[in-house]
Parts: sequence; C-alpha cells; structure tokens
Amino acid sequence: MSGEQIKITGTATALHEAFGSSIADPGQGIMTSRPYYGRFELDFGLKAGLKMVAADTPLGTCLQPDVVDAFEQTSQKAKAGSIEIRAVLIINPQNRLRRCCPEDTLIAFMCFHQKHHIHLSSDDIYAFSGFDPTERGTHPFTSVLWFEPQIDESLLHVTYGMVKNYAVPGLRIGALITHSKPLLKAVKSVTRFRNPSGPSVAIASATLYDRTWMRSFITLSRERVGEAYTYFSERLSPMGVTYLSRVNAGFLCLSISQSG
Ligand SMILES: Cc1ncc(COP(=O)(O)O)c(C=O)c1O
Repeated sequence: MSGEQIKITGTATALHEAFGSSIADPGQGIMTSRPYYGRFELDFGLKAGLKMVAADTPLGTCLQPDVVDAFEQTSQKAKAGSIEIRAVLIINPQNRLRRCCPEDTLIAFMCFHQKHHIHLSSDDIYAFSGFDPTERGTHPFTSVLWFEPQIDESLLHVTYGMVKNYAVPGLRIGALITHSKPLLKAVKSVTRFRNPSGPSVAIASATLYDRTWMRSFITLSRERVGEAYTYFSERLSPMGVTYLSRVNAGFLCLSISQSG
C-alpha cells in the first residue's frame, strides 16, 4: 500500500470516532465479538452516537472461523431491534485474549462482509507484540491486508496506533489504512480537530525511518514480553491460579475467583 492510502490522526481513539461517524449514522451499529476492549462504547458512542453490538462468543471459540455464525445471528437480532449494523470491528491480536486471529477466521470474516456488503475494520494496534509461542495452538500475527482480499477492497480497513508496540503512551498518533478513497476523504475532512501534534509526528517519523533501530526495538520488545509471559505463567499454576493459555501477544488474563 502507499502513503496515499494512510491517514494519520492524533491517537487511534480519535481515528475510531472519525471512522465511525464517516461510515454510519447515529443509532446504527458496530458489531464485534466478546470479550472486547470496553472503551469502544465511548469511542463510537459518545460523539458519533453509534451502538456497539457484541456477538455472544465464548472465550474458547471467539477466534474460530465459525464465529461468523454468531455474527450472522447477532446482526439479525440487531435488525429486529432496529439497529442496522454498518461494520464489524475486529481486534487483531485480540486485546483481551492476547491471541492472534487465525488466517482462516480472517477469510471467514471477509466472506461474511462480502455477503452483507458492510465494512470490516481490523484494529491492529498490537500487531507487533506477538512473541514466539511456547504453547501449542497459537497463531502468528497476520493482517487482513496481507493476503488476496475476499472482499470489495473499499470495505476493508485497518486502524493502527503507535502507543502499544513502541511503548510510548502519550505519543499521539493513530492511522487509518484503507483503499477506500471516500473514507479517506471523510476522515480527512474532520481531522482538523484530531490532528497529531508536531512533536508526535517528529518522533514517529524518526522511529519509522530508522528501520534498523525500529526492527531491533520490536525484536527486543517481543522477546521481553515473551520472557515475562513465561516467567509469570510458570509461577501461576503452582499457586493454583488459572490463566488463559495459548497466548502469544501480550499480557496475561488471570482468574483469581477460585484461588485461596
Ligand atoms: C484495542 C485498542 N484500540 C485502541 C486503543 C486506543 O489507542 P490510543 O491510545 O492510540 O488512542 C487501545 C488502548 O488501550 C486499545 O486497547
């Protein structure tokens, strides 16, 4: 993709709001699977007036290809309740489970979207946080933009932000990556109020232009996140604390309800 297909704003949050108000009208819905990042209700709801509609997807299966069946049912229920679904939002790697979306699930999502002709947006903010899995059953990170689209390209979008992978909370940069010219134009028209700051752009550019530094930072960061995961997970079971395994992209989800 080229730079012309990328629009930057200050933060991924600002971008989601601009994206939501560009593709939908107040009262319409953005569908996602459970569990999801709870701030989306604010990001899409506060200003754009959109409703987050969550498909009932159990932890164990919410990244499997047949999750689209739950999406199908949820979108019908939403329609019966007069909420028109305008887009599905996925988070890859999933920020609650810290698992990457398998390729066949991404393809199933695209087929679902092509059938319903609605937008598919993937929040790839944790894209480079994947570490080498020590547990079987994990999948490497694959972006929806990496393979032959099974969907009208103008309906396929990726959002990104630098705060997570580069460990820079406070760096105000979010990015929309899309083939859709009308969407880029719509987001551009409102970015006057969501511009990234000059220092954020300068730091982000310096980071991205120095490919050698950038690659070594990301490699080191992934190694350390993997080491931290192994360190904690190995100590949790002997303490009787259960945790969500098959994780390869970041923090640990614990259950402390049964312990002690
Ligand atoms: C999945 C996801 N998307 C977006 C954001 C927001 O990113 P930003 O700080 O760039 O607004 C977060 C922050 O935690 C997140 O977890």
